Amino acid sequence: MKLWNAHWSTSMDELTARLNDSLPFDQRLAIQDVRGSIAWASALHKAGILQEGELARIVAGLSQILDELEEGRFTFQPSDEDIHTAIERRLGEVIGALAGKLHTGRSRNDQVATDFRLWMMETCDQLESALCGLQKALLARAETDWGVILPGYTHFQQAQPVLLSHWWLAHFWALERDRQRLKAVREHSAMLPLGSGALAGTGFATIDRFTLAEQLGFSAPVPNSIDAVCDRDFAAEFLFWAALLGVHLSRLAEALILYTTREFGFITLDDAYTTGSSLMPQKKNPDPLELIRAKSGVLIGKLTTLLTILKGLPSAYDKDLQEDKPPVFEAADTLAVVLPVLSGLLNTLKINSERIHQSLDWSMLATDVADYLVEKGIPFRQAHSVAARVVQRAASLGLSLRELPLDEWRAVHPAFEQDVLSLLDLSHCLDRRAAFGGTAPGAVRKQLELARTVLAD
Ligand code: ARG
Repeated sequence: MKLWNAHWSTSMDELTARLNDSLPFDQRLAIQDVRGSIAWASALHKAGILQEGELARIVAGLSQILDELEEGRFTFQPSDEDIHTAIERRLGEVIGALAGKLHTGRSRNDQVATDFRLWMMETCDQLESALCGLQKALLARAETDWGVILPGYTHFQQAQPVLLSHWWLAHFWALERDRQRLKAVREHSAMLPLGSGALAGTGFATIDRFTLAEQLGFSAPVPNSIDAVCDRDFAAEFLFWAALLGVHLSRLAEALILYTTREFGFITLDDAYTTGSSLMPQKKNPDPLELIRAKSGVLIGKLTTLLTILKGLPSAYDKDLQEDKPPVFEAADTLAVVLPVLSGLLNTLKINSERIHQSLDWSMLATDVADYLVEKGIPFRQAHSVAARVVQRAASLGLSLRELPLDEWRAVHPAFEQDVLSLLDLSHCLDRRAAFGGTAPGAVRKQLELARTVLAD
């Protein structure tokens, strides 16, 4: 028996029931469902629909169910179709026929949307703190690795030297945007569907949805009952947030994987964050980073799943909407693991500054050579080609830029003078990038300060 099939001629086909039932996944909305019901019961009481004593018995019954859930004593029955019917069934067992009054003026359509949003708000808070943990780990790296100069790459070719701290902070800022986006998702989730009924609004005009919203921690009731039961924008926004965060994490993971290779050797992962090979005894593999990179693909898939479900639907409620939860739950579960793992990995990795230093190629100062000529009044386009010729000349002589004697410079262009040699200094090159946002130590120090401030908020 279901809660709705008293007038059915036969019971539901077994496999159809399996297709229909959402309990296997929506049971994780149990606490939210009970909280929503307690608030709904008090709204029914304030609206003059439930007597004082009835309210007290319903709330006592629901509180007992909450205890059972929290202590893992709640047992589901095969007839439970979803979390809402399971809790209503149990309430009937605990307080008797009075339980049947709780669903007055309410539909599972506004109920499930409310539960899901409540869950979403809590999940956003939890994931925000995990995300902050990762941002702190990046900030800590930027502080610990202060002074290390890293080859900056574009196209995976050495481009210009940067402070390693600057590079860590680049990842920090991407995550800061993710954090702000997550806050917006939470804000958008905080609109209350309850009191919208199945689609047309609750049949009881004395229900005060504003008080209900406040009581459940929502900022306001959804202003349109049809929209209220079908709006899953908050879930789609959450999944976009997760997918983009996944892309950011994948980008970081990809670079770190490369930096752990023997060829680079820039970093060494702590053993706690590596795995071995079942065949090759010498191997230490960065599997966690590879999985983080792969999870971004999984997260993008979840977003696509939900958008595709939503795409074909008319407005109001359709059962398709039941399938909105698994991708969201799975994305949240994935990130709840990935974020702390990556934080731990960052907190424990070792920087091999000697290797990083050895890898720096002096040709990365070519831009500074061009800028030097610009300061002597030569147009940048011309300066660019002169600098390129200097790099070529040094290479053909088997020398680094730093080893190239002054007469060789002057053979390429007479504007070069003795002072060009003092230019060939990494710190000098960094110092030049002192404008806001650049890699000069002073600018990066300011950036660190700013990063600490935004994170403290
Ligand atoms: N389990 C359903 C869901 O998750 C609850 C709503 C059912 N509503 C209905 N009209 N059948 O969407």
